[in-house]
Amino acid sequence: MPRVPRPTAPTGPDAADEPDGTGDHYFTASPASPAELRRLEVRLGGRDLTLTTAGGVFSPGRLDLGTQVLLRTVPDPPPSGHLLDLGCGWGPVALSLALASPGATVWAVDVNERALDLVGRNARELGLTNVVAARPDDVPGDVRLAALWSNPPIRVGKDVLHAMLRRWLARLEEGASAHLVVQRNLGADSLQRWLEDAGAVTSRVASAKGFRVLRVDGPGTIAPS
Ligand SMILES: C[S@@+](CC[C@H](N)C(=O)[O-])C[C@H]1O[C@@H](n2cnc3c(N)ncnc32)[C@H](O)[C@@H]1O
Repeated sequence: MPRVPRPTAPTGPDAADEPDGTGDHYFTASPASPAELRRLEVRLGGRDLTLTTAGGVFSPGRLDLGTQVLLRTVPDPPPSGHLLDLGCGWGPVALSLALASPGATVWAVDVNERALDLVGRNARELGLTNVVAARPDDVPGDVRLAALWSNPPIRVGKDVLHAMLRRWLARLEEGASAHLVVQRNLGADSLQRWLEDAGAVTSRVASAKGFRVLRVDGPGTIAPS
């Protein structure tokens, strides 16, 4: 059973990004910290929901501000096909995709096992049968994406981030788009330049609260490294 929320959830502007007291980063594969399940009230897809989060994942105490900016900016996702949330955490983006497009398959991808457990649990609680929680290598190679939404893990470092983006953006279908939210202070503009240099047709579609939302029109000429 989920435990009662503790009043220690991070609240500062960058708290969601910091390692917790155990040294775990939110992108640790198997967080060492206790799961400490918490209930979190959030509004997603026009619905007030109570979901489960836990320590050792990104922003367990609130809907991250960047994610809020992303979800306010994105157009309605395609009603069918394969949709991807790259770096799903406890699932706000994947769940929003699944609520909006019940006829699509939503791949909720993360390297953090606890995040994958949480997004699966939250999807089940909402009765969503179209969410597949998966590690990156578990997504079949022939899956092509009708949309990709992501609040990507900037703190993994440029090399890892760039390799991830190359890998998944190259899978966009013709006419499909990716939307990425990136904090301006964490290099949104240099990421946009890198994307353009890598052959991805990229535009800035929103700028709010210190975040940029970048749209990448697929498939461009970006190729997996
Ligand atoms: C900034 S968080 C966003 C989490 C969630 N989408 C949200 O908005 O709250 C980025 C996520 O990317 C995950 N991540 C890190 N490296 C990854 C990789 N190589 N592939 C997929 N996800 C990764 C992290 O574990 C983390 O959950």
